[in-house]
Amino acid sequence: MRFKDKVVVLTGAASGIGRATAKMFAKEGAIQVLSDIDEKNLKETYELLKEGKNKATYMKVDVRNPEEVKKMIEFSKNEHGKIDILIVNAGVVRVGPVEDFPDEDYDLLIDVNLKGTYFTCKYAIPYFKKQRYGTIITLASVAAHIGQVNHANYCSTKAGVLGFTKALALDLAPYNIRVNSVSPGATDTPMLQSDVAKQARDRGVEYKVVKKEFEEEGVLGRWATPEEIASGILFLASDDASYMTGADLRLDGGWTAR
Ligand SMILES: NC(=O)c1ccc[n+]([C@@H]2O[C@H](COP(=O)([O-])OP(=O)(O)OC[C@H]3O[C@@H](n4cnc5c(N)ncnc54)[C@H](O)[C@@H]3O)[C@@H](O)[C@H]2O)c1
Repeated sequence: MRFKDKVVVLTGAASGIGRATAKMFAKEGAIQVLSDIDEKNLKETYELLKEGKNKATYMKVDVRNPEEVKKMIEFSKNEHGKIDILIVNAGVVRVGPVEDFPDEDYDLLIDVNLKGTYFTCKYAIPYFKKQRYGTIITLASVAAHIGQVNHANYCSTKAGVLGFTKALALDLAPYNIRVNSVSPGATDTPMLQSDVAKQARDRGVEYKVVKKEFEEEGVLGRWATPEEIASGILFLASDDASYMTGADLRLDGGWTAR
């Protein structure tokens, strides 16, 4: 058990990559504080934990709301006395050409993907600094590294997450805190499914046509499972990655190798 009694705080735990990560940490003995804005599916994640359930708590947190984020961090510290691992996973995607992009969608991307990442780290950092250890993993994307058609605004938020992560790694290294990101490629989650469905509707083509295009972006020719991304997150959180900080782990099936 790589994470026996390590305290993990994880955002976006109700779905996709977050849910797979929660399940994997539970199997490896972690104590978890799981959060999401979607309470119903969050509870479902909790129910799915099986052996790790008695060591997990879940709470509704909107990462756009600094007070809620602060409460989550304080809960973890008060209840468990420490935070070992912070996974900044909550995110949203909105797609479309820039000239037609609704401003409220733009605000949502910035508020969740960038400000949410900032708030989640902001309130955890003082505790990490006091402990003089800890590790933070953010969720960037292939979209942080390359352009994707109709994803300009999403790409800008994920490139922002990448820059934030690298700079934060420099600030926190003197405190023995490692900060890294993961960049998934096309991963089979509700987020990607909704992205593909919208593009199919907008272009008037079948879902499977757009799905195939996404599958062919990676040289492995298929989507990742959420578990394949969770494996990378757990690696970065583990002592096996003890010399890694300021790094980005691309789990993209070779998408950015072309
Ligand atoms: N699926 C992919 O292909 C892919 C690729 C690259 C990067 N990512 C990134 O991975 C992360 C997880 O994505 P996923 O594919 O599992 O998506 P998902 O939609 O399945 O899960 C995202 C979770 O974030 C939660 N969330 C959204 N807004 C929130 C808010 N304001 N406060 C708290 N929680 C909120 C949602 O409720 C959901 O449970 C995201 O940051 C995403 O950008 C995903």
